[in-house]
Amino acid sequence: MKIGILSSGGDCPGINATIRGVGKTALLHYHMKVVGIHNGFSGILSNNPKDIQVLTERSLSGILNLGGTILGTSREKSFRKLINPDNAESSSIIKKRYEELGLDCIVCIGGNGTQKTSALLSSIGLNIVGIPKTIDNDVWGTDITFGFDTAVNIATEAIDRLHSTASSHRRVMVVEVMGHHAGWIALYAGMAGGADVILLPELGYDINKVSSVLTERERRGKPYSIVVVAEGLETPDKKKRPTDYITKKIEEMTQIETRETVLGYIQRGGNPSPFDRNLATRLGGHATELIATRQFGRMVCIKGDKVDSIPLSEVAGKLKLVTPDHDLIIQGQRMDISFGQ
Ligand code: F6P
Repeated sequence: MKIGILSSGGDCPGINATIRGVGKTALLHYHMKVVGIHNGFSGILSNNPKDIQVLTERSLSGILNLGGTILGTSREKSFRKLINPDNAESSSIIKKRYEELGLDCIVCIGGNGTQKTSALLSSIGLNIVGIPKTIDNDVWGTDITFGFDTAVNIATEAIDRLHSTASSHRRVMVVEVMGHHAGWIALYAGMAGGADVILLPELGYDINKVSSVLTERERRGKPYSIVVVAEGLETPDKKKRPTDYITKKIEEMTQIETRETVLGYIQRGGNPSPFDRNLATRLGGHATELIATRQFGRMVCIKGDKVDSIPLSEVAGKLKLVTPDHDLIIQGQRMDISFGQ
């Protein structure tokens, strides 16, 4: 068999470990041929020979701990528009290219958008296996995605560091972490970093409640506070950065000096944690096993402590969000940590 591997959507730590997991298992265990497709789905259609790279044991060496993706990535939306399951003709260019490349399957490493595109490709008859990745941890159908643990480690370290400067200046520190739709990083890093207020897009918040929590802390002699905000939090001013609004409002309403920190892409860069490397290796290996046994149209996933897979059609278009009954939220509330309600 000959398989192609691509990474699509925002990068995250652990993609290279996955490419290595898929590639080495395919080469060494199943004796398949492996090519890397550069720059996401667009690499399939680019007709640039440099976008198709034969992957060998040698080219897959030394990448386990590397951040980013050796194959490059791109957003999938414009490619997705070319696929119309109701019109075979419209997608024929993609099928033709797949055949020209002599592929038996494409392994698509990506987040929600990628899995949606993968499901469409599968519905027009291509053999596809999806592997979920995103620091946001919001891919439906898997308990966890690689990249998340690394991002939580980075964000937690940042929050730890903010404690000392917040304390020295007796300030409120508002820190924004990634999470466009889902507050998983805010929840996990906020709790691990000992935040006093954690605001998640899923739960909403009342700015009056947030302010009174901070005023009350000051009254009880707590000289500083840490507020963790997910980037997807909605604000009345619809500003791109929720921290702008939250920081201004807190200072205005509490009269406590307040500063903001936006962690941004730092959370996505650099080496994956050991946990993410092993998760990526397990998912990559399982994806290759699915190919070898011709179980296409599926996304590998983690259920409890087991590696499993589910149909791509079940994943497409859904998000895995934080729910109010999550035990970290319940436990946090019992310890007087505010979630803005
Ligand atoms: O990959 C998910 C994510 O990290 C989101 O949290 C964030 O909104 C988005 O990527 C931003 O990525 P880009 O600017 O690369 O589109």
